[in-house]
Amino acid sequence: MSALLEVADLRVAYGQVEAVQGVSLSVEPGTIATVIGANGAGKTTLLAAIMGLLPAKGGVHFEGEDLAYVPAEERVARGISLVPEQRDLFATMSVQENLELGAFRRGRAEIPQRLEEVYALFPRLKERRRQHAGTLSGGERQMLAMGRALMARPRLLMLDEPSLGLAPLIVRDILKTVSQLRDTGVSILLVEQNARAALAVADTAYVMELGAITLSGPASTIAADPKVSEIYLGGGH
Ligand SMILES: Nc1ncnc2c1ncn2[C@@H]1O[C@H](COP(=O)(O)OP(=O)(O)OP(=O)(O)O)[C@@H](O)[C@H]1O
Ligand SMILES: [Mg+2]
Repeated sequence: MSALLEVADLRVAYGQVEAVQGVSLSVEPGTIATVIGANGAGKTTLLAAIMGLLPAKGGVHFEGEDLAYVPAEERVARGISLVPEQRDLFATMSVQENLELGAFRRGRAEIPQRLEEVYALFPRLKERRRQHAGTLSGGERQMLAMGRALMARPRLLMLDEPSLGLAPLIVRDILKTVSQLRDTGVSILLVEQNARAALAVADTAYVMELGAITLSGPASTIAADPKVSEIYLGGGH
C-alpha cells in the first residue's frame, strides 16, 4: 500500500524562525491520521505548507506525485481540501451559498448532488440552508466549513482544530462525522490540541512539539504512552 499523502523532512520558516523543523508523516488511503500538539507547535503552519499556501523545503507527495511546483488551487483540484482554523465563512451569505462556493471549480451541474451529500451528512445545515452563515452557532459554523470543503469532493480532507471552542457533545458529533467520512473513503489529516478526542477517532497519530514530530505510531499506542497521557490527556488514564 502506498500513502495518499507523504510529507518528507518538511521545513517552514517565518524569517529566521523555523516553525516546522523537518516534519515527516504520511496518510494512508481510507484512514485518519492526527497531529496533536500544544499552542504554537506548528500545526497550522504544517497544514498551510501542505496546501501550498506557504513556501516550504522538503517533499510533499500526493498520490505519488511531487507537489513542489503545484500551486494551491491546483492542489485543491487534485483532491486536497483544508478546513482552516478560522473557518473563513462568508457571514452575509446563506448556508447554501457558502456551500455552493465550495464546488465552484467542479461546475454548476454537479452542485445539486454535492449539496444532497453534504446535507445527508449534516442535516442541521439543510434545516438552516437559508440562514446567514454569520448567525450560525459555533458547531454549525464548523459543520458548514467542513461541508464547504466536501463540496469539492476531496480525497484528502485536512481539518485544523475542528474542536476549537466547541462543547464536548458537539465535538463528539463532529468527530463522529469525521469517522463516517473515513468510512466513505475520504482520508483525513486531523490537527488537534484536543488530544483525547483526536486519538479516539484516529488510526495513526503524531505528536508535534516545537516544530518537530517527537512521537508517532498507531493512535491506540500513542494514547497509552505514559508521557502523552501525562502531558496531553491530563494524567490518570
Ligand atoms: N505569519 C507568521 N509570522 C511569524 N511567525 C508566525 C506566523 N505564523 C505563525 N508563526 C509562529 O510559528 C509558530 C507555529 O505557529 P502555528 O500557528 O503553526 O502553531 P499551531 O500549532 O497551529 O498553534 P495553535 O494550536 O495555537 O493554533 C508559532 O511560534 C507562531 O508564533
Ligand atoms: Mg493552529
